[in-house]
Amino acid sequence: MNAKTKIAKAVSLSVCLAVSAAFGTLAQAKTFKVAVGDAAGGTQHELGKKFQEVLKEKTGGKHDAQLFLNGQLGSEQDTINDAAMGTLDFSILAINNVTPFSPSVGVLTLPYLIQSLDDAIELTQGRVGQQLVDNTLRDAGVRIIGWAYSGFRVLTNSKHPVTKPDDLNDVVVRVPKNAIMIDSYKSWGINPTPMAWSETFTALQQGVVDGQDNPYITVYAMKFDEVQKYVTNLRYLFSIEPLIVSEAVFQDQSEEDQQAILAAGKAATEHSALWLTAQETRIKQELTEKGMEIVEPANGEQEWIDLATSQVWPKYYDSIGGKDVLNDVLKSLGRDEI
Ligand code: MLT
Repeated sequence: MNAKTKIAKAVSLSVCLAVSAAFGTLAQAKTFKVAVGDAAGGTQHELGKKFQEVLKEKTGGKHDAQLFLNGQLGSEQDTINDAAMGTLDFSILAINNVTPFSPSVGVLTLPYLIQSLDDAIELTQGRVGQQLVDNTLRDAGVRIIGWAYSGFRVLTNSKHPVTKPDDLNDVVVRVPKNAIMIDSYKSWGINPTPMAWSETFTALQQGVVDGQDNPYITVYAMKFDEVQKYVTNLRYLFSIEPLIVSEAVFQDQSEEDQQAILAAGKAATEHSALWLTAQETRIKQELTEKGMEIVEPANGEQEWIDLATSQVWPKYYDSIGGKDVLNDVLKSLGRDEI
């Protein structure tokens, strides 16, 4: 082959590669669908917006994400199934709606385990969190790539102030379809009503149930003040809301795009922690101005704590991977082992 032919071949090869790279890139450009369980203005929405912004930035505008708020793409638990099958790209949902698909994640819903935002950050972003990410991938076929922090789930109801477990006797409380949360209410003496999140507002409005629990920011975003009057400042469950990606969809991406997705999830997580700190006090105040009455649990919440920890924790040792796992978690939080 003479020099001229060699040059011509080299030029034609690089043109081919450039054309195929260009077409490859164009073919892969995508607007991912992100299911969001809550309404606009909540922590889920905030996490999603930041994820979208950083994903666009990291992929030079090649990829985008569209958020579908208010459970438009199905109930939170259904979105796990859809993502596992690869028919949905991403979902942002409460951790309690992941537990039925990956029981070890239940450690994050044990009543009174997480006592602060710092505990929540330590558990999700440290060694324990990585283990939970791996377990969820193995059990449910979805990868957790980010976390929203939403604050403690406070109890709201339409009937009367509740300060001690006995006050719940005549209150019908909706809970997610989550065994640990159902058992928490049973430890306080009532049988709660398990119900999908997407049905909750209407059930409260129509009086099918009288109360529910969710963080202040969620209560505000969902306009629960329109159908609920009393708030009990419970601290039994710190709400953590992961951003998950379908593993099938994730594996379809180039190495570079996978890194961009992971980086966007990380940036959104960091943003969520700052946002919660900035918003929660203001939102609590606004809910009071809208007419909600906030009460503290009696006696520093001790009766609630004793009943839930003594009756619920032992029941879930096995499903979270054994008592040793719980002790490891307690140790990582600087607390006494049991
Ligand atoms: C639930 O109560 O089912 C969830 O916590 C709702 C949410 O995702 O905010």
